[in-house]
Amino acid sequence: MSLNVVVASAEHTPYSAYLCELMAESAKQRGTGIAKRTPEYISQKMQAGKAVVALDGKQVVGFSYIETWGHGRFVANSGLIVAPEYRHKGLALKIKRRIFALSRHKYPNAKIFGITTGLAVMKINSALGYIPVTFSELTADTEFWKGCQECRNYDILERNDFRMCLCTGMLYDPARHQSNLQRTLDWCKIALYRSRKAIKRWWRRRRRRNKKSAAK
Ligand SMILES: CC(C)(COP(=O)(O)OP(=O)(O)OC[C@H]1O[C@@H](n2cnc3c(N)ncnc32)[C@H](O)[C@@H]1OP(=O)(O)O)[C@@H](O)C(=O)NCCC(=O)NCCS
Repeated sequence: MSLNVVVASAEHTPYSAYLCELMAESAKQRGTGIAKRTPEYISQKMQAGKAVVALDGKQVVGFSYIETWGHGRFVANSGLIVAPEYRHKGLALKIKRRIFALSRHKYPNAKIFGITTGLAVMKINSALGYIPVTFSELTADTEFWKGCQECRNYDILERNDFRMCLCTGMLYDPARHQSNLQRTLDWCKIALYRSRKAIKRWWRRRRRRNKKSAAK
């Protein structure tokens, strides 16, 4: 299986409906709501070069896209999805790294943020240099918060005047990362994170091999 993560383009638009289905299905399974996305909206993001896709050959098996809020002062990397049969192989990390790099390239001064209840996303965001913050640090753009209306916890958000809810807010502020030292530290953090994963994989393979040879 050779998996590639690339910036999406018009040739990937036939997969938009499939990606919407995957997102809706996973939200149902998690018991959460999601901001409504139509295949047309996903296609537009692909055509505008504001999305990345994970490919197995020519087949799209993962996705994420860029949204901007507050007149471009904030960017969110949204709609992260990996097809069920491709999960737990490090693909979400690859997708997030690619969409994060694309966001930094397109909007170098924007703050990149997300809200999530998912452990996988929290781990990946932390590795990319996001830190947990209160909602007061995120965009005040009402359009962004409208996306929460489908969530079953929306009443909690509303009751708290959009200041807190069950999601954790996470933020990457480029101002914090400007110095060379900070950039080097971030690079080391990602390298360490990846080596830890490689060592884990190697250790699991070694254990499996030892078990097999003991059984012979
Ligand atoms: C969440 C999702 C994108 C993760 O994709 P993935 O390719 O399996 O993730 P990765 O293999 O890159 O794993 C990244 C990290 O998250 C962890 N992780 C992955 N799935 C997890 C889960 N369901 N629960 C807890 N941790 C999880 C991995 O163990 C890994 O951590 P590690 O580096 O410490 O080992 C995928 O399960 C998915 O598409 N889910 C449905 C949509 C969704 O929840 N999107 C996020 C909306 S906020």
